[in-house]
Amino acid sequence: MPLRYHIVTFGCQMNVHDSEKMAGMLEAMGYSPAPDAESADILLFNTCSVRENPERRLFGQVGVLARRKAQNPRLIIGIGGCMMQQPGEVEKVKNELPWVDLVFGTHNLHRLPELIRRVQAGERPVIEVWQDSPEIVENIPVHRQSSLSAFVDIIYGCNKFCTYCIVPFTRGREKSRRPEEILAEVREFAARGGREVTLLGQNVNAYGKDLPGGQWDFGRLLLAVNDVEGLYRVRFTTSHPADVQESMITAMRDGEKICEHLHLPVQSGSDRVLRRMGRRYTADQYRALVERFREAIPDLTLTTDIIVGFPGETEEDFAATLRLVEDVRYDAAYTFIYSPRTGTAATRLRDHVPEPVKKERIYRLIQVVERIAQEKNDALVGSRQEVLVEGPSQHDPAMLAGRTRGNKLVHFPGPAQWAGNLKTVQIREAHAHTLYGDVVSHA
Ligand code: 5AD
Ligand code: SF4
Repeated sequence: MPLRYHIVTFGCQMNVHDSEKMAGMLEAMGYSPAPDAESADILLFNTCSVRENPERRLFGQVGVLARRKAQNPRLIIGIGGCMMQQPGEVEKVKNELPWVDLVFGTHNLHRLPELIRRVQAGERPVIEVWQDSPEIVENIPVHRQSSLSAFVDIIYGCNKFCTYCIVPFTRGREKSRRPEEILAEVREFAARGGREVTLLGQNVNAYGKDLPGGQWDFGRLLLAVNDVEGLYRVRFTTSHPADVQESMITAMRDGEKICEHLHLPVQSGSDRVLRRMGRRYTADQYRALVERFREAIPDLTLTTDIIVGFPGETEEDFAATLRLVEDVRYDAAYTFIYSPRTGTAATRLRDHVPEPVKKERIYRLIQVVERIAQEKNDALVGSRQEVLVEGPSQHDPAMLAGRTRGNKLVHFPGPAQWAGNLKTVQIREAHAHTLYGDVVSHA
């Protein structure tokens, strides 16, 4: 019987895609996917350290494996990803989870097969974490979760050092992939019937800054991907407001496959807090930027990330965030309670906000965000939307699910063989996070 693998992924889309690469490498080694974690011969955890919660969950989940490992010593347990890049975490794993066989980081992901072979040969634990990656490793095999929609890395790391954020420490400095590599990957995916790509990076619109020649920026890359034959849609995430160039806005306006969705994290509506976060823009500059995007792309779906309870955030600062949300009117916002990350500058700031105050603020923020999301979706009732059909809905297998160009999830009746097609759906009912509709016949 072939050996089987299972991967547990925490964190962002970058991590989801890294797990697809882990799966690709494991399959190249002869492993096949296990139907569940219980039947796996190798169990990998791809960790996240952006907030405290995913960290706690990891120690809980790997903690309970002690018994399984005692019953089946041949089981290989590995931990990789962002958390392992943080000082002290590897030691903590060694001390608290001694049944872990393998530890690796974000920069040496491509070394996974070699590290697993060493574990198989009897070396335990195998621990290898690199502080940085000397160069981008290309051609890692990848097992994509979907044949329809693909994540494609365009830039790794981040140079921004926002004072709350661990990413520059776990993922290193910005490194753009060469455009030829990106385009080759997109072309190959499209040639095999892929319909949609999401260009990935912690900071996609810093793309090209570090490439020799200064010929490429994010706007140019977007238009080049837009020209790939066979593809229906191009998406990207995440953008930084301070790195937006005119070429990005015009590419979104002119590229017919580039979807009208922008995820533009604002983090706070208070200039004082934005300054202390090191965000490099004021709330009014952000508002003006949104105006520029909306002028060029009138039906833009806009989403964001917001942190509440950053050190020193007063009630007045928080009120400024609520005002900004009311002004900008996001289609959706991911809201987070500030979580101190060891090694980041914000941990040294004074006036940490008490937990109950943070909770009360996030609750008030969510009320506003949800009300506006509902209002924005209500406005779509009766409209016709181009939907890329993904397949049967996870919530209701009798229905199909797909996304509008603005990235809104729509449920509608139809046969499963529509998966992969574009359909025109007339919206009948709106909730804050989902739409319901019916396919309009093409007669
Ligand atoms: N605490 C809370 N939220 C954070 N984020 C990043 N770091 C922290 C932190 N220390 C949020 C930001 C970012 C999103 C991915 O996670 O809003 O945009
Ligand atoms: Fe988490 Fe950031 Fe790593 Fe993504 S890059 S997995 S959000 S720590």
